[in-house]
Amino acid sequence: MASSDISDASQLSAQIESASGAALAAISTALDAEALRAISAELAGKKSSIAVLKSQLGKIDDIESRKTAGRLINAASEAIAVALEERLASLSARDLALQVSSEPLDLTELATLNRRGYEHIVSQAQQRLEDVFIGLGFQIAEGPEVETDFYNFEALNMPKSHPARSEFDTIFLNSGEPNSILLRTHTSPVQIRVMQTWEPPIYAIMPGRVFRRDTPDATHMPVFHQIEGLVIDRGITFAHLAGTIEAFTKAFFGAEFTSRLRPSFFPFTEPSAEFDIRQKDGNWIELGGCGMVHPNVLRAGGIDPDEFTGFAFGFGIDRMAKERHNVQDIREMYTNDLRFVRQFS
Ligand code: FA5
Repeated sequence: MASSDISDASQLSAQIESASGAALAAISTALDAEALRAISAELAGKKSSIAVLKSQLGKIDDIESRKTAGRLINAASEAIAVALEERLASLSARDLALQVSSEPLDLTELATLNRRGYEHIVSQAQQRLEDVFIGLGFQIAEGPEVETDFYNFEALNMPKSHPARSEFDTIFLNSGEPNSILLRTHTSPVQIRVMQTWEPPIYAIMPGRVFRRDTPDATHMPVFHQIEGLVIDRGITFAHLAGTIEAFTKAFFGAEFTSRLRPSFFPFTEPSAEFDIRQKDGNWIELGGCGMVHPNVLRAGGIDPDEFTGFAFGFGIDRMAKERHNVQDIREMYTNDLRFVRQFS
């Protein structure tokens, strides 16, 4: 520490030397950056030994001696500041290197994590359905999700004001004539598009996304997926429909499942049926509708009903995925909970 009596210039220079020597020694022997930061104010701050000596320069009467002492003090403060900065930088770098080597990051661990993406169970079900039907000789067709009233209703034997329209809680788009453009409520409009562009015989499946104002519950979603089937050929009967559905059930769900057709009504098929499946001793579960294509629908598709007959079906893909994997609630399939999704990777 500086003495209070520094009127003697030579004594002052000795004190500067000793204060700066002590500060430089403390800097070079600090154990780590944290310890050095803790004493940096004491070494180079306003209350450091050098600063105290500087504040006493005025007591030196001889002007030349005072200047010399001032230069000494400035040089000492600068040397201390530089030493402090350099030592802090090198200690920080060393501390970081020490930390890195003591906490190794084992990158091989990352290689063992299963980060591969995989398909959602609805996509998996759709692909499996496509495989099964391609195996039965069907071809895949697709249609637009935004449809016109004509394809979604009118051509399917549901003229305006037909009561069956109200069963499809339709989402209309704010485009064109009021209620003329909509999000398709089922995949059946693709039947018409296929009939208009393909020549019979037609063996087609048409998977896709459909939209209804349905409130989500255990078996309903407002956006879901259907797969439509259409067969048009000479001499097609209801027996072909029943046989195709039974063959499909066994191929998709397994030999322990069986199917049944229950009388029903759809404006675009006559007769119409509901398609149910059941696992041995289980409950019947409704998966879709089907029937013989109505003559009006064949005509709307440009096909002569006197020459060709056909059958059609429309299954809910999400419901199929749900049944195949024993999922209790269809909404679980859309929660994006990785614990759920990973079960089906
Ligand atoms: C139809 O959509 C008809 N187009 C099916 C059809 C096609 C009949 C060809 C005859 C000939 P439906 O509204 O019943 O029918 O729907 C068919 C299937 O879609 C249902 O059995 C069910 O499996 C599924 N489904 C219907 N609504 C929902 C929903 N909100 N969420 C999930 N799946 C649904």
